[in-house]
Amino acid sequence: MNPQPSPQPRALGVVRFYSFLPQAEGFSEEVLAGLALPRKSIPPKYFYDEQGCRLFEAICELPEYYLTRTEMAILRGNIAEIAQFVGPEAQLIEFGSGVQAKTRILIQALQTQLYVPIDIAIDTLRASSSELARRFPFLNIVGICADHTRPIALPEFVGVPIRRKTIFFPGSTIGNFTPAEALVFLRQARKMAGAGGVLLIGVDLKKDKATLDAAYADSKGVTEQFNLNLLHRINRELAADFQVKRFRHKAFYDPILGRVEMHLESQYSQFVHVAGRRFDFAPGETIHTEISCKYSIAEFQELGKRAGFTPEKVWTDPEQLFSVHGMVAS
Ligand code: AVI
Repeated sequence: MNPQPSPQPRALGVVRFYSFLPQAEGFSEEVLAGLALPRKSIPPKYFYDEQGCRLFEAICELPEYYLTRTEMAILRGNIAEIAQFVGPEAQLIEFGSGVQAKTRILIQALQTQLYVPIDIAIDTLRASSSELARRFPFLNIVGICADHTRPIALPEFVGVPIRRKTIFFPGSTIGNFTPAEALVFLRQARKMAGAGGVLLIGVDLKKDKATLDAAYADSKGVTEQFNLNLLHRINRELAADFQVKRFRHKAFYDPILGRVEMHLESQYSQFVHVAGRRFDFAPGETIHTEISCKYSIAEFQELGKRAGFTPEKVWTDPEQLFSVHGMVAS
């Protein structure tokens, strides 16, 4: 049964921040360990320094990068049904909240009173939380600066009626995990949601190679800058001497593994110092910087089930490019 709207005017919301930021040493350790591997790799979470966040926002506007606009259209086009599915008085927890354009659609429709954005990028988190607080004066925001690839214990927020925890994980960021890591993440999300809690998750769908190759190697070279920015960041923060021009952006869809891979390819035989250690590169050798797994609807539902969710709804676009799944923690 839906409750009647409260007759009292709502109190103004409160904005709080908690930081569970990974230590700076985490970055240095992971980069050094990743470059020492026989197949060099660096986790994609390190893309998102200030410049990386800006470049990712620019990627989301690219004609080739259909993901963002398609997911927005799915959310807008089905918002009444989504709001009904989630129900009233939901606490909205968002992982990798970023710029929050999609969140605005949800908060507006759900009239959410408690919003918990979790993001590794503190500046984006602060800026977008202030913007949301301005737009929705009734909204209480508990911003958590944390690495969502690790378990997080949420602080309690007293005084706001909560019926259902709703975890919102848009953008197909789940694709940046391997399926095994995605399962671990979904199990943590299941625990956080509690029985009866909801997961609303955006998942990019498998499709033809040409569309996916173009989405990750755009004609303006923005994705290339995004990928290469990781080397600039390492130079700046870890006293490294990468000659960025000697590396090339490489991105391709592997239809067998069902994932896009992004790499930084060394153009020459060269060596680089990072935090006092030397790393050698052969010509054509790469640093693997990201995977972006793509799923069929059935594959993702299966993953959700294995994590303890019951898949109840799927919304897609007419071309079946992207999916938004509504699942309930069983
Ligand atoms: C954040 N994530 C879902 C993006 C993706 O599509 O995997 C990151 C990205 N990498 C290159 N372009 C966009």
